[in-house]
Amino acid sequence: MKERIEELVKEIEAFNISCPDELEQFRLKYLSKKGEVSVLFEGFRNVPPEAKRETGQLLNNLKQLATDKYNAEKERLSMAETVSTTTDLTMPAYPFGEGTRHPISIIRNEIIDIFSRIGFTVSEGPEIEDDNHVFSMLNFAADHPARDMQDTFFIEKKSGTESDPHDVLLRTHTSSVQVRVMENTQPPIRTICPGRVFRNEAVSARAHCIFHQVEGLYVAENVSFADLKQALLYFAAELFGKDVKIRLRPSFFPFTEPSAEMDINCNICEGKGCNVCKGTGWLELLGCGMVDPNVLEACGIDSVKYSGYAFGLGIERAAMLKYGVNDLRLYFENDIRFLYQFRTEIL
Ligand code: PHE
Repeated sequence: MKERIEELVKEIEAFNISCPDELEQFRLKYLSKKGEVSVLFEGFRNVPPEAKRETGQLLNNLKQLATDKYNAEKERLSMAETVSTTTDLTMPAYPFGEGTRHPISIIRNEIIDIFSRIGFTVSEGPEIEDDNHVFSMLNFAADHPARDMQDTFFIEKKSGTESDPHDVLLRTHTSSVQVRVMENTQPPIRTICPGRVFRNEAVSARAHCIFHQVEGLYVAENVSFADLKQALLYFAAELFGKDVKIRLRPSFFPFTEPSAEMDINCNICEGKGCNVCKGTGWLELLGCGMVDPNVLEACGIDSVKYSGYAFGLGIERAAMLKYGVNDLRLYFENDIRFLYQFRTEIL
């Protein structure tokens, strides 16, 4: 009996319990009514009287060992369970530092501030939109590729694959807000539309399916391309410093004619050419142009009497250029090591 007890002590000590199933196997094998320990207790009757004292003690120790191990492992497993379900081990530890503004909010507020100083108001609109406000009224042809499933998150398609003005979708740009403003207000209109936009793109360092824009619109009598250029130069100088240089390249948007894209000089290589500006010395910042008369008319504005300019930029992009952030995903990960770098910004 003594040898058997010693064997069992070793066995119990070596028994590996890593899940509730193994814990139950342990209990059945050693602690249940028909388990090894009970079997030995039954055999205790046949132990010669002179050995009873010593063997009894060993048996009791064995039972205690098995029970202690069972209880300890049970507790450990239940703790592991609560840790994995309710405790986020990546959470910053106490004491928590003071919060900071997110860089996207900082730049958005700064852009709003810059344009409000030259008379722009702020307009907002829905993120869930219809095709009409996102595409049709903005002069997108029915077969324009931007309407495609590849670019747009559709919520409800009204008719097969054909685009339908009543299709429900997530806005791909905040130009939809400009449409809503023009529908409801007669010129002069001078407003910017900050907001979240959605495009069906694979997430990478350079693209994200959710990002933020600020689009601007100015409609009045005699608005010219020179007015647009002057407003954009003022904006770039306020955001990036008075030494910034801008250039406008011809481009195309369905809702503006003529259209352009605006670059600023690369502040990393100071125009000499580096891998960020791909050797050109320039970085693309925004799209712009004169509002297409078709758009004004679609919104009920007399395109003979009034003209206007519009522009739109990505806030992430502006923040990337301003702060030298090289991966878009950083804006969405909420890693405080990234966010704390902006703690001294006040806006
Ligand atoms: N809406 C365009 C975009 O999302 C940007 C833009 C706005 C271009 C206004 C020209 C004029 O890419």
